[in-house]
Amino acid sequence: MLVLGIESSCDETGVALVDAGAQPLPRLLSHALYSQIDMHQAYGGVVPELASRDHIRRVLPLTRETMKEAQRSLAEVDVVAYTRGPGLAGALLVGAGVACSLAAALGKPVMGVHHLEGHLLSPFLSADPPEFPFVALLVSGGHTQLMRVDGVGSYELLGETIDDAAGEAFDKSAKLMGLPYPGGPHLSKLAQQGDGAAFRLPRPLLHSGNLDFSFAGLKTAVLTQAKKLGDELEARKADLAASTQAAIVEVLVKKSLGAMAQTGLKRLVVAGGVGANALLRSQLNAACRQRGIRVHYPELHLCTDNGAMIAMAAGMRLQAGLVKLEVLQRGYTFDV
Ligand code: KG4
Ligand code: ZN
Repeated sequence: MLVLGIESSCDETGVALVDAGAQPLPRLLSHALYSQIDMHQAYGGVVPELASRDHIRRVLPLTRETMKEAQRSLAEVDVVAYTRGPGLAGALLVGAGVACSLAAALGKPVMGVHHLEGHLLSPFLSADPPEFPFVALLVSGGHTQLMRVDGVGSYELLGETIDDAAGEAFDKSAKLMGLPYPGGPHLSKLAQQGDGAAFRLPRPLLHSGNLDFSFAGLKTAVLTQAKKLGDELEARKADLAASTQAAIVEVLVKKSLGAMAQTGLKRLVVAGGVGANALLRSQLNAACRQRGIRVHYPELHLCTDNGAMIAMAAGMRLQAGLVKLEVLQRGYTFDV
């Protein structure tokens, strides 16, 4: 059974094909990705209207590329999956519209996939996939959540951010330092030349006793520190970047360990764009090794948005029997 997946929630257009008949997990046959980052960089962030227009330009060529790489034809596709949200409305509409039209033309069903479920299940695309149950740390540009995951579709929220997401904290702090969009990878690169202990920045909710996060105060502290530095900022930028990263990572690691202790589970899955952060990976690995906890990550290039995770999540839902083709065939969902 072939599932075509389309992702278009923000500034990446992704298309992928998985074989959902493969055991024990759906198998990725091919995927194609186009990142709009260069286009949005000039504006310091994603411009929604430009994002939607670019998805329109890219999605069909990427679909052709995906099918060609897998040496399959569209007529062989059994289900067309697409990201139904959350995300930018216009951007989501492009993926949903194309998925629904393609499915209608092929006489096949469509399946809307939750973007975060895509991220959550993306480590199953790696060569060494996790086993259920596990704790998931979902850290993207829009979300920061800790979840207990007992199986496909069985998710319990343990804690989440009460204001900004971790990725947002990276991006907004980076912007204050004059770094290009998206700030996370740029800030993390600059931080390599800095001292993470140079500035003592707040670790919000570190000792709150629950698994919630808050990053808005950190951004304000970075702004205050940047203003205080004034002309010196340029010379101390690497130190400020390293200190910001250290604060974000310390909170993420501490709360993840809290979730492991609370659930008693021994497997942690990290997903979402911030999961690509090297300091987060090394600190989590070290802390978890000491406690006999296994940590799983998606492959580095599948941490940020992509079509493979959407096709995979759809395939895993089908395999788990959570979604029945017969039910899907009754009608098209258009749920943005
Ligand atoms: O998951 P994602 O691609 O999109 C959302 O669903 O939001 O995550 C994008 C976020 C951005 O905030 C970006 O700055 C951050 O992930 N990010 C990183 C790194 N790579 C991407 N943050 C820190 N370090 C990185 N290496
Ligand atoms: Zn995402």
